[in-house]
Amino acid sequence: MSALLDVKDLRVSFGGKEVVKGINFSINAGEKLALVGESGSGKSVTALSLLRLALNAKISGQALFDGRDTLAMPEPELEGLRGDDIAMIFQEPMTALNPLMTIGRQIAEVLELKKGASKQEAHQRAIELLIEVGIPEPERRAAQFPHQLSGGQRQRAMIAMALSCSPKLLLADEPTTALDVTLRLQILNLIGELQKRATWLCCSSRTI
Ligand SMILES: Nc1ncnc2c1ncn2[C@@H]1O[C@H](COP(=O)(O)OP(=O)(O)OP(=O)(O)O)[C@@H](O)[C@H]1O
Ligand SMILES: [Mg+2]
Repeated sequence: MSALLDVKDLRVSFGGKEVVKGINFSINAGEKLALVGESGSGKSVTALSLLRLALNAKISGQALFDGRDTLAMPEPELEGLRGDDIAMIFQEPMTALNPLMTIGRQIAEVLELKKGASKQEAHQRAIELLIEVGIPEPERRAAQFPHQLSGGQRQRAMIAMALSCSPKLLLADEPTTALDVTLRLQILNLIGELQKRATWLCCSSRTI
């Protein structure tokens, strides 16, 4: 069986300085893989590079997703994968969520854009997703803006958004670093449950 993601000799440099120096790994469907390394070792850059989201980066190597190289495919093809087959959860939800849009609308918009859902279908599914990630009073929360949620709820909302299109691969860049210790455990347990549905590449500077 070929791997869901096969990364070969990935090298990333900024302005001539190489920060990812030929990393190789592969993940099969249903697996969970953690990239562990000290701060600045290139975990975030690795995850971002797989979707060509690392700004001003010069990237070489191969990242075969379902046999197609995300580093070489045309931009429209990659745009089709982003948020759909491959989703990403970022370290700090406040920078990843749109502060001017309600949580429900942000999740619904992904479903409208990527899955062609109607406004009503997308809203309904957004509520279901908020329930799945354990947000109480989902109707009320869906109508709120990111700053009106707690840190843990924001992180859950971001997980709900990432899962909205049932991605085959989820890139989680330090999904719990911004949270306090008790919440970290809850979110990791949640990720553990949800992992049964998606394959994970998790980046962390500590063992999780
Ligand atoms: N856009 C950029 N331009 C220039 N250098 C960058 C850029 N993004 C990252 N770097 C550099 O690349 C290296 C790797 O950074 P990266 O963010 O991947 O580290 P990390 O392993 O995720 O660290 P942390 O655990 O602190 O999140 C660092 O030296 C960083 O300064
Ligand atoms: Mg990082």
